[in-house]
Amino acid sequence: MSVSLQQGAFIIAGLLFILALAGLSKHETSKRGNILGSVGMGMALVVTVVATLIGTEVEGVPATEGLPDWGVAAVLIPILIGAAIGVFRALRVEMTGMPELIALFHSFVGLAAVLVGWVSYLEGAPEQNPGLHYGELFVGVFIGAVTFTGSIIAYLKLSAKMKSAPLALPHHNLLNLAAICAFLALTVCFVILPEGDPVGAGGTVGIVLLAIMTAIALLLGLHLVAAIGGGDMPVVVSMLNSYSGWAAAAAGFTLGNELLIITGALVGSSGAYLSYIMCKAMNRSFISVIMGGFGSDGAVVGEAKDYGEHREISAVEAADLLKNSSSVIIAPGYGMAVAQAQSAVADLTARLRAAGVTVRFAIHPVAGRLPGHMNVLLAEAKVPYDIVFEMDEINDEFPETDVVLVIGANDTVNPAALDDPSSPIAGMPVLHVWEAGQVIIFKRSMATGYAGVQNPLFFNENSAMLFGDAKKTVEEIIHAL
Ligand code: TAP
Repeated sequence: MSVSLQQGAFIIAGLLFILALAGLSKHETSKRGNILGSVGMGMALVVTVVATLIGTEVEGVPATEGLPDWGVAAVLIPILIGAAIGVFRALRVEMTGMPELIALFHSFVGLAAVLVGWVSYLEGAPEQNPGLHYGELFVGVFIGAVTFTGSIIAYLKLSAKMKSAPLALPHHNLLNLAAICAFLALTVCFVILPEGDPVGAGGTVGIVLLAIMTAIALLLGLHLVAAIGGGDMPVVVSMLNSYSGWAAAAAGFTLGNELLIITGALVGSSGAYLSYIMCKAMNRSFISVIMGGFGSDGAVVGEAKDYGEHREISAVEAADLLKNSSSVIIAPGYGMAVAQAQSAVADLTARLRAAGVTVRFAIHPVAGRLPGHMNVLLAEAKVPYDIVFEMDEINDEFPETDVVLVIGANDTVNPAALDDPSSPIAGMPVLHVWEAGQVIIFKRSMATGYAGVQNPLFFNENSAMLFGDAKKTVEEIIHAL
């Protein structure tokens, strides 16, 4: 295969990845984005495999040799086995099992980066800039090893195969810092030792340095993620996604593969940005998530205040209120996902709209436990995209709204975030549902949400609690309508 054909295909694949990311940023274009990304990846894979099998040439002169028959089998058989496992898992995964599957995939990227780095080291350095090569390789193995064990722990926690409470070893932040300092010191030793020196890189001491660093990085990944509570796992998965991208980019430098560098950088930067958006919407600093120990046991945080009595409402009374209203906003949250109430909510929406009521959805950026959790559930229930609004688009509309249905949301509609500077969620942007005429809150009890803080909204004069499983209570309202 000619090298220019290979490079042309890589450029097209890179462009398709960028278009895929752009498409994935909106509901309407997300399917197209997914298809573009898959086509780009398919193209990159086919071109890379074919170039490896038959070799490449520049203007008729061989640049790389093709593989012998056993090599062809060694490449194709694992690809077929991997593809079969991937298709099997992807067809069976439930929507709620996505984060753990993604965490497992990230661990493979991390492992691949470690193996590429090690093999490249054992093969020896290029004649030009060997120090730079060793530096890239060392960093790539480090990020890959942290991603590998970190992702495995994230997978075990998310799939409830391991306790999700944070592991709090004494001085755990100091331990992390010590590991990073050791990595930096080892990198300097590894890079500055001259090639060919019996104790230098390429020699036995180099292998020992690489082995010590790999062991430290594997332990660091394990410890870093074990110290983070189950509730913060979505941020961690997005952070590991970012790490896996940087690990792939580092492997791209080691292998001299531009497409791997571009793809790794896209994954690395988009994952980092997603982690940043999630932290901002939760009013948490990225550092505090990494330091761990938050949101683990659902205990009430902060002082318990007496907000007075709450009022209750029945499904029949709620149906009457809805019948007599002209505009309704639904603010869904984690409880809607727990109750799997999305189809009932979509059904209620369709009935109200058929009766001439304007119904819209208000989506908080961190409602639920995954980025886009509510959007995915509503799309699955076939709620039209044009009535689903992000928090910033709809927050000014509450004063003109007759009734707000808060379905399984709590922290994301908590006015204490704005009014109480001592609240653990102070400063977190929230949906201003209390500004509407009436607010009906669907939940099973007066229990707190993820952040473990009381919600004064429940005690407002224009608030009423509709207790019970959200799916059941929404169905009761539909029945009463
Ligand atoms: P939460 O504050 O977690 O509240 C969910 C509420 O749903 C609970 O108060 C619970 O009350 C109720 N609930 C649970 N099961 C229910 C059921 N079957 N039927 C009816 N209600 C039910 O939810 P939220 O407002 O969506 O906020 C999300 C929280 O998660 C935020 O604090 C956010 O920072 C955090 N977080 C989000 C993400 C992402 S990326 N979305 C990632 C990590 C953390 P009862 O037990 O009384 O029913």
